[in-house]
Amino acid sequence: MTQPEALVGASLEVCGVLPAGWRVIARYAVGSTNDEAREHAKAGAPEGTLVWALRQTAGRGRRGRGWDSPEGNLYVSVILRPEATTGFAAQAAQASFVAAVAVADLVRGLLPPMARVQVKWPNDVLVNGRKVCGLLLEAEPETDGRVLWLVIGIGLNLQFAPTVAQYPATSLRAAGGDGVLTPGVVLPVLAKCLASAVDDWRQNGFAGMCARWRAQAIGIGAPVTVRLANDLRVGIFRDLDADGALILELADGQRQRITAGDVFFAPTSVPAVAVPTCAVADVTMATEMAATEMASEVIPCC
Ligand code: BTN
Repeated sequence: MTQPEALVGASLEVCGVLPAGWRVIARYAVGSTNDEAREHAKAGAPEGTLVWALRQTAGRGRRGRGWDSPEGNLYVSVILRPEATTGFAAQAAQASFVAAVAVADLVRGLLPPMARVQVKWPNDVLVNGRKVCGLLLEAEPETDGRVLWLVIGIGLNLQFAPTVAQYPATSLRAAGGDGVLTPGVVLPVLAKCLASAVDDWRQNGFAGMCARWRAQAIGIGAPVTVRLANDLRVGIFRDLDADGALILELADGQRQRITAGDVFFAPTSVPAVAVPTCAVADVTMATEMAATEMASEVIPCC
């Protein structure tokens, strides 16, 4: 099959089955769908625009890491335009939980009932304890701090999982998903899950979304090691705070809010350094901001 044929074939699977008002910009290969989506967002593309590619030549993970992007997995970035009344970082942070909940819904629907689908703070999706999806959020604030646009990049392992990664990884295929899980088949279902989660967020607020996230989260109440930019913190993952921050209880009983870091549930498994490869799952509460990257932040709880 030639490249245009492959793209036309895949696009036909998507046609006509998107949520109302949503549309797809389909490409065979791009550097990064997030980069393309940001350009479209800056040029005024509306909410619900999906930039989708069959492969990426410079796929990006969080914190400047790469995201391996061979043909067969799903690489898509969606543009949202929050009606921002709260700040830029808060909107972006909330959107990352919304997207993780949407992807978890999608994955659950595509796998046999015995597959264990969970979310990991703040926005990874795991199947049977292994990472199947990573999210990369980028946003641009207006000068007054309101969000102009958000781009949520989604990398979902359909057919392949990286063998070398910071956390164990898997694919839907390895987890028992049907062999016909092609990007063109999965994309419209993902769009539906995203549209429905965004709707829920807009209508019912972030508290409900947090409850949905918490109900399927791995590790609440468990010992956790959090790797910050220059430090490690060990404690118990007590809960989510109202804005999605991780509440860590230290050995002396003090509680701290953590808004960015790499989370490991088995203290002995913390890699000494970040592995510069695909599917790394460091967690920044939401974001690699286009304009401002959220700094690692530990704030004492009240
Ligand atoms: C992570 O490090 O866990 C986030 C990975 C995000 C990968 C996706 S693939 C589609 C979009 N385009 C990119 O370059 N990255 C995101």
